[in-house]
Amino acid sequence: MIQRVKLLLCIGIAAFGVSVMGGVTAAELPHYSDTQHLGVASCASSVCHGSVTSRTSTAVRQNEYVIWSRQDRHRISYNTLLNNESKAIAKKLGLKSAHTADICLDCHADNVATHLRGSRFQIDDGVGCEACHGGAENYISSHVDADTPRGEVLQAGLYPTDEPRARAKLCLSCHLGVGDKMATHDIMGAGHPRISFELDTFGALQPAHYVLDKDYKDNKWAGSSVELWSIGQVEAARQTLLLIRDRLNTKGLFPELALFDCHSCHHSMSDRKWVANDRSSLPPGSVRLNDANFVMLLAISSVVSQDLERSLKKGLRALHQTVEKGNNPKKKITSLLTKLDSLDDKLDKADLNSVVPKLRKAIVKRAAAGKLNDYVGAEQATMAVDMLLSVEGKRAKHAKSLENLYKSVNDEDNFEPYKFAKAMKKLAG
Ligand code: HEC
Ligand code: HEC
Ligand code: HEC
Ligand code: HEC
Repeated sequence: MIQRVKLLLCIGIAAFGVSVMGGVTAAELPHYSDTQHLGVASCASSVCHGSVTSRTSTAVRQNEYVIWSRQDRHRISYNTLLNNESKAIAKKLGLKSAHTADICLDCHADNVATHLRGSRFQIDDGVGCEACHGGAENYISSHVDADTPRGEVLQAGLYPTDEPRARAKLCLSCHLGVGDKMATHDIMGAGHPRISFELDTFGALQPAHYVLDKDYKDNKWAGSSVELWSIGQVEAARQTLLLIRDRLNTKGLFPELALFDCHSCHHSMSDRKWVANDRSSLPPGSVRLNDANFVMLLAISSVVSQDLERSLKKGLRALHQTVEKGNNPKKKITSLLTKLDSLDDKLDKADLNSVVPKLRKAIVKRAAAGKLNDYVGAEQATMAVDMLLSVEGKRAKHAKSLENLYKSVNDEDNFEPYKFAKAMKKLAG
């Protein structure tokens, strides 16, 4: 679990509504677009993004490269493929090596097709600038000119990373999976760590190489943590559903196991920790889909629309039951996707910033009542409560309880739901 203590977000409460839709499709993600990627070296000059100190006279800090190369794990994501852990994974999978295998490079580097690699492109830069910002071939010259309208630069291939839904899709394409890249159970079985994600928390942990100053807010989307978090949850749920639709594959003896809650299989038989779960209503002994992001969506919708909460719950239960019976879940997925669209609309209109305490209480209450007894749900709830307390400015006051909460989810192999519920109860009181 991301035990690393979260940097306090000082984003403040912005009054912006969330109105722009993230109209990108998987094909438009930087990995799949057809523009040349020029390489990190093309961005890193000291007069461009490689300044050692942050500048204040320009619109951007210009030290993005330095932050990325010194503090961002994306910088070392290719190097990870050279370490012993990766060597062992590759060997078990029968790969020649991890650092030459597309199934690893697709997430651990900017693995675009060879003909799209410019002369300064280096695969060992890992997840470099253009893996997130898009191939720079057509915008490298125009994007530095303050007079070029932003729309034109985006048209030329700059990926809209500031637009929250587009950003969520981007991060999730590697931190959850998309289309043809996914950390499958084969990869997990060979020893890959389980992956989890939350847009706001991970954005802070990356760490951010941008400052939400006045200039930024005037020109870009600069919503609050709560807004970013809620959009991240909807997008993650959407992407989870699409992965289930495309990757469940019920043809073999076992479907794609990485779509299920790892801990529903991986725990000791003497645990006896099964308890009824109202999101799935499945009987003991069943394997549950990983629905971690729906946990938060139910809490969010309980605050913005109880009808929608009921309807989401019903749809989710139907999906669990259909998959459990081995039936084709496509219809249930389509129906849930429509409900997520409605939730998006509701979120656009709602002012989540004004209901932060309500949101936190909705999550804490469910958790304290023992309703989040599965690890993945508990993990998401912990990140959410931490973020919401930060926004409320109450994080310091509850430091001790938060520490206890993190302790209760620190070791996923020995997760004890009752301890987690108890830690949440303390926060409720
Ligand atoms: C091209 C794939 C890719 C994209 C896109 C991507 N990441 Fe990552 N990210 C990775 C990989 C791979 C790692 C693991 C690096 C390592 O340790 O080797 C990682 C690691 C991280 C970490 C460090 C996690 C830890 O355990 O310390 C954070 C935080 C993170 N990413 C946030 C983000 C955010 C936020 C976005 C979207 C703005 C994003 N990532 C987009 C592939 C990606
Ligand atoms: C769907 C994207 C994806 C694929 C495919 C993928 N990884 Fe990863 N990998 C990640 C992300 C994201 C992380 C960071 C997880 C975190 O800390 O949250 C990671 C973390 C790791 C780590 C642990 C890094 C550390 O020190 O914490 C290793 C080792 C690793 N990956 C190796 C591999 C190998 C080898 C392959 C190919 C067989 C592979 N990965 C395929 C996304 C992926
Ligand atoms: C893992 C994804 C990721 C990687 C890798 C990445 N960025 Fe970013 N970058 C972001 C996100 C997210 C934002 C915030 C949204 C925005 O302003 O577009 C951002 C913002 C920026 C900004 C805008 C700052 C502002 O104040 O408006 C610049 C400039 C930038 N990045 C440059 C770089 C450079 C140069 C590199 C490589 C050295 C890089 N980025 C690598 C995701 C990434
Ligand atoms: C339906 C049950 C099921 C689910 C769900 C499941 N696994 Fe597995 N997992 C297995 C089985 C069966 C094996 C093979 C065990 C063996 O070889 O002893 C296995 C093997 C593994 C191994 C290798 C263990 C070893 O002894 O080397 C790892 C690691 C692993 N799984 C991780 C995961 C992760 C991470 C997830 C969730 C993303 C997950 N599993 C989901 C059933 C499951």
